[in-house]
Amino acid sequence: MANSALDPQVMANAVELACRAPSVHNSQPWHWVVEGAALKLFVEPHRVPHATDLSGREAIISCGAVLDHLRVAVAAAGWQAHVARFPNPNDMDHLATVDFSPLEYVTDAHRARADAILARRTDRLPFAAPPAWTAFEAVLRSTIDTDRATLHVLADSVRPQLAEASRLTESLRRYDSSYHAELHWWTAPYEVSDGVPYSALVSAAERDRVDIARRFPAEEHPDRRPEVAADQSTIVVLSTYDDSRRAALGCGEVLSDVLLEATMAGLATCTLTHMTELAASRDIVRALTGADDQPQLLIRIGLVPSISQVPPATPRRPLADVLEFRG
Ligand SMILES: Cc1cc2nc3c(=O)[nH]c(=O)nc-3n(C[C@H](O)[C@H](O)[C@H](O)COP(=O)(O)O)c2cc1C
Repeated sequence: MANSALDPQVMANAVELACRAPSVHNSQPWHWVVEGAALKLFVEPHRVPHATDLSGREAIISCGAVLDHLRVAVAAAGWQAHVARFPNPNDMDHLATVDFSPLEYVTDAHRARADAILARRTDRLPFAAPPAWTAFEAVLRSTIDTDRATLHVLADSVRPQLAEASRLTESLRRYDSSYHAELHWWTAPYEVSDGVPYSALVSAAERDRVDIARRFPAEEHPDRRPEVAADQSTIVVLSTYDDSRRAALGCGEVLSDVLLEATMAGLATCTLTHMTELAASRDIVRALTGADDQPQLLIRIGLVPSISQVPPATPRRPLADVLEFRG
């Protein structure tokens, strides 16, 4: 039975929790509208960092992540979300309309998944190798919707080629001033509700220990996590059958799934898209997956030694800026 009206406060709480979702440069390119019993999700075109996200795919991926987070948030509150994707063919910025019906029973797993939303961080420091990867991969594969995105786990043996592709991306962009201006803008210290704060960035010395990373402006930090001399994460790639908006939205939903599943397993994650933004490095990533579908993003997954600090939570835009009640 779809179409039950959620209490406005329950709706607001769920949207606020969902908006902890990751987004490219923490741009949070989404807008939610409540109309009657339905909740609508729109992408905000003016928040897309165009010099980075040349195709606009990453903004839609970010919205896919917030959509899946919303589903997780309402489930923990006792509601099932019924999602219609791209319900208006005349408005492709209208990404989804969500209706709700009461959930029969809220399990501990529903609550744990919602808790993982708050615990998750993008961690740019080096990771130790993820323990018991085979078991974790089996769990991961059982939860993700392969109609939306396919998951490739890259072998450790291809790591040098991947690191080379990561360096290639940075070299190709060395003189791209629009890209660098944008990176500086999204990491500027005066922004309080969006962008990547200094605390989430790495110092030059820390950067040397992670061979696959987007090169953000380096920050001054005392050397953190010195016990991990070099990153030993496992790298997974999410790919889609094509580069359509629908594919990007689905990929974002699967990204959310993977990040929350990893968080629940006690693993740290870092989403990476610098290599899928440029054709040359994207081709290398595609070849390394051994498939001919479209690589959308990579995720470093690993373990943070227990004595090590995790990065603080990044800021979010105020709820009033992202959620609108109409009528
Ligand atoms: C589509 C997408 C692309 C991203 N690309 C990168 C990237 O290339 N490098 C990186 O370090 N973080 C990347 N991130 C992580 C965001 O910067 C991060 O989600 C944002 O700053 C909010 O921080 P949080 O994830 O810790 O909440 C990406 C996230 C998304 C959803």
